[in-house]
Amino acid sequence: MRNFLTTSEWSRAELDQLIDSALQFKSAVDQPKLLAGKSVALVFFNPSLRTRASMQIGIHELGGNPVVLEPGGTSWTLEHRDGVVMDADKTEHVAEFVRVLARYCSAIGVRTFAALRNWEEERMDPVLRAFAKYSEVPVINLESAMHHPCQALADMMTIREKSGAERKRVVLTWAWHPKPLPMAVPNSFALGAAQMGHDLVIAHPKGYELDGELMARIQEQAAGGGGSVEVTNDSAAAFTGADVIYAKSWGSKQFYGKPERDIDERARYRGRWIVDEQKMARTNGAIFMHCLPVRRNVIVTDTVIDSPASVVIDEAENRLHAQKAIMKKVMSTEY
Ligand code: CP
Repeated sequence: MRNFLTTSEWSRAELDQLIDSALQFKSAVDQPKLLAGKSVALVFFNPSLRTRASMQIGIHELGGNPVVLEPGGTSWTLEHRDGVVMDADKTEHVAEFVRVLARYCSAIGVRTFAALRNWEEERMDPVLRAFAKYSEVPVINLESAMHHPCQALADMMTIREKSGAERKRVVLTWAWHPKPLPMAVPNSFALGAAQMGHDLVIAHPKGYELDGELMARIQEQAAGGGGSVEVTNDSAAAFTGADVIYAKSWGSKQFYGKPERDIDERARYRGRWIVDEQKMARTNGAIFMHCLPVRRNVIVTDTVIDSPASVVIDEAENRLHAQKAIMKKVMSTEY
């Protein structure tokens, strides 16, 4: 049995095969009913448009039945820690929740964002790992505290579709946002770009470094995949000659659990760390990417997101095809 928790548990060849499969799903008029008679649980601790709609629709188009559950809303509040005396607000433990669902469903997707309270705890992805620990069916990460691999696969597919399969100068740029956000999307995008052998540039202000252990894994993947990794605090320099601009905001590890301090720290970057026409003019005719949802004229100007360079809607569409490929793979008995 294989889970889809992060792309780093999948080889470059396997990721390429998943993208090939996603492109086949995209071009096929008739969809194979691979999930006929099967149900897939989709557990959402947090809000979603793209992930929830594309998973529900993807499962339906493959002939299966999506079962959406929202702990604390449409299902019981959930405890994930082992050995806890459950005398507070949590009604059910992941140990029972997941094992019961695994008796009904052929796979379990879970979305569980970072609470942005305790860095050392959350960087270990405790809720996602608890699901994987107890599940007897494949677990698909629909965005956890540290990773969003479905997004990353759709992103790598979009880069291949729009810019070709060759090595590209791919820039992940931090952007100002009024509040600190989780790091799952930048982590998974950087990891995916390194695995695919691109020349990855990560641009952010000082103090907004990604996790050290993850950066070591990104460096390792880049070295193995024939690409490179550069980290810069110079936004304008990063854009120069770029083929892909991927914008995302994230919070500082330094101020994790202290949002007011992060908000004060980042105030100086407002209007400076935004993707605008001037910066895009420095690129090598780059495409503009963002996972969405995006705050217009905060992360990116209207002129860029509405320009022909913007591929954000195709990128969102590709979530559907990429996730079908992931479900086909993890729910198959052949690896
Ligand atoms: N990009 C993404 O995961 O979108 P949602 O949060 O709307 O699912």
